[in-house]
Amino acid sequence: MRARVIAFANQKGGVAKTTTTLSVGAALAEMGKAVLAVDLDPQAALTYSMGVDPDALGETVNDVLVRRLPVEKVLISREIDLVPANIDLAGAEAILLAKTGREYALERALRDVTARYDYIVIDCPPSLGILTINGLTAAGEVVIPLQCEALSHRGVGQLVETLADIRHFTNPNLAISGVIPTMYDGRSKHARQVLNDVGSRYDLEVLDPVVRKSIRFAEASQAGVSILSFAPTHPGAEAYRALARQIDEKGGPG
Ligand SMILES: Nc1ncnc2c1ncn2[C@@H]1O[C@H](COP(=O)(O)OP(=O)(O)OP(=O)(O)O)[C@@H](O)[C@H]1O
Ligand SMILES: [Mg+2]
Repeated sequence: MRARVIAFANQKGGVAKTTTTLSVGAALAEMGKAVLAVDLDPQAALTYSMGVDPDALGETVNDVLVRRLPVEKVLISREIDLVPANIDLAGAEAILLAKTGREYALERALRDVTARYDYIVIDCPPSLGILTINGLTAAGEVVIPLQCEALSHRGVGQLVETLADIRHFTNPNLAISGVIPTMYDGRSKHARQVLNDVGSRYDLEVLDPVVRKSIRFAEASQAGVSILSFAPTHPGAEAYRALARQIDEKGGPG
């Protein structure tokens, strides 16, 4: 077994990267897959959303990246396995920048555990800095959560350029698995059309179905579990199950 490694990335904030990483990961686990989630954001929203208090942690992904602590030393078992983060990771950026091979720190760290999982899902921070570059370099695929709302699409061109750079410099095999449309608000009738236009302009597949807006997502994260555990029959849980099935059926790159 060799894990498919999927980065969830978009430099725009608040488009449901973290929610999508956890929900897709939990849905894959429901299907019987072994799943590891990696929190690459100093804000540690994924860690928090999995019921772990970031401030109470000693060692985190920061130690894995900066001083090569083995991933097993920081692993936490919850709904799925987690490599947690906390605010210490904010300092990693500067330290990594001074190192040779800085883009590969996560890729190298994950090599030890890739045989144990079917999927490794990576929650990237809302920037295109060295942490996101580490996520995209470690990944075989990237999924782009995109809010169903016109204004949130402005950065897509920049993201697509960054992905081209990653392919050129650090990870020639990086595949773009597609866009996951999030936070759909039934009132914006043209949202789906706008997304399809964005998809065709940048040659990105828009996955089905859209994830609708619901307060349940915030409630689930406060409860420290995914929407799938929090409200198993909620349409949001069903949407992420369908998206995870689609991702699983597509198969990995190469
Ligand atoms: N479908 C949804 N409907 C309503 N709220 C949602 C939905 N998905 C996520 N949210 C909520 O929106 C907020 C932002 O989501 P999330 O943290 O997943 O986005 P993000 O892209 O990871 O943000 P950041 O860029 O800060 O890392 C959270 O409070 C989350 O609970
Ligand atoms: Mg996030």
